[in-house]
This record gives sequence, C-alpha cells and structure tokens, in this order.
Amino acid sequence: MLSSCYASIMRTMQLLARKGGAGKTTLALHLAVAAATAGRSVAIVDADEQASALAWASRRDPDALPILVVAGGRDLALTVARIDAELVIVDSPPSARTRGAWQPDRIVVPVQPSALDLAALGATLDLLGGRELDAMAVLTRCPPRSPEIDEARAYIGRLGLRVAQTTIGERRDYARALAAGAAATENAPRSRAAQEITDLLNEVLK
Ligand SMILES: Nc1ncnc2c1ncn2[C@@H]1O[C@H](COP(=O)(O)OP(=O)(O)OP(=O)(O)O)[C@@H](O)[C@H]1O
Ligand SMILES: [Mg+2]
Repeated sequence: MLSSCYASIMRTMQLLARKGGAGKTTLALHLAVAAATAGRSVAIVDADEQASALAWASRRDPDALPILVVAGGRDLALTVARIDAELVIVDSPPSARTRGAWQPDRIVVPVQPSALDLAALGATLDLLGGRELDAMAVLTRCPPRSPEIDEARAYIGRLGLRVAQTTIGERRDYARALAAGAAATENAPRSRAAQEITDLLNEVLK
C-alpha cells in the first residue's frame, strides 16, 4: 500500500541524469502512474525535446490519468507553478540543469550498476550544486543477485548521495508497458516490476 504521509512535504520531483538512457523516462512514467493509481492528483511534465513521455501519452487513452504537460526549458518554472496537482513529476533530458529559476523538491537520479554509468555520475552530481540532501539515486536495470548492486550502492554513498533501498530490475515489463501507453502497475499488476515501482514510490516520496 502507498503510505500517505508525503503529500504535504513535497510536490515536485525531477528525474535527472546526465547519462542518456539512464532510465529517467521509464521511472518518471512508472512513478507517475503508480501515484495516480493510488489516488493522488499527478501531472507529468515532459521537459525533454525527445518527447518520449509525450509519445507515450499519445498511445494512451486520452482520459487516462495522470495528465501530461509539455514544457520547454525556459518555461519550466512557470509551467510547474501553474499545474494544479498534488504531485508534479518532471522528466528531463540528459542536458537538464537544476540551477536556475526552478528547483524541484526532490531529485531522483537513476543509475545503472555498471562501471560506465557510475563513472558518468560525477557529471550529474555537478548539476546538483550542493543539493545532495534533496536527491536520491535509484539503482536501475539491475541484474538479479549481482554483487555489482552492493558495490554500486557503496560507491554512490561515498560520493555523498543517498541511494534508495528499492532497486529496479532489468525487466521487459517496463518497456512492454510503455510501448502500450501503460505502466507495469497497470499491465502487469502482480509483476515484480509493479511491486518494485510501488516500493520505490513510497520511498522517494517519504
Ligand atoms: N528497468 C528496466 N528494465 C529494462 N529496460 C529498461 C529499464 N529501464 C529502462 N529501460 C530501457 O532502457 C532504455 C532507456 O530508458 P529511458 O528512455 O527510460 O532512459 P532515459 O534516461 O529517459 O533516456 P534519455 O536520456 O534518452 O531521455 C529504454 O529502451 C528502456 O526501455
Ligand atoms: Mg528520457
């Protein structure tokens, strides 16, 4: 079950990683759908010119929640301020910046537990500009029972970034659901993917 203690604490969350293909859009959409399904009023903001989230929404029933809003870089602060929702989840491009007019309450950094992805994490940390306390790394595309997961957790911790207890596995259910304009919690509600997204949502919104 989704815990209910967070809504008043945080409203905006940004998925951020300088590494292309880190898993930002996959997590943004899955977290947003899970929160909406749990009864929250949620908006996804697609701030990426690649418009992957918009393309997903276009495959979805137009009445299905959550709503999706498209925002260009300069409009982000204004766009987010005008959205009437309890929770706003922003999917950003690899070139995103956190400094500037708009600051999210929470930053979620997807990282794959591989040497190349961990090496690229420094570029994302540079963007945080001292806001590490508002940020949380999430290990994603994790292989099953791999020692690399604990090693990655320890490495990221040494960089001064919290790491979510919940790990996201390498699972086809994520891409399959998104290809159908859905999320794994909708298409495969009993799957490991659905369970770990629900766990992650509870954790990142605490
Ligand atoms: N947990 C997962 N299991 C399996 N495949 C995944 C998982 N997460 C992401 N992927 C796949 O990895 C690819 C990149 O994911 P995604 O588009 O979410 O990354 P991104 O950070 O948004 O990329 P970009 O920087 O281009 O916006 C996609 O093909 C997606 O289906
Ligand atoms: Mg993306």
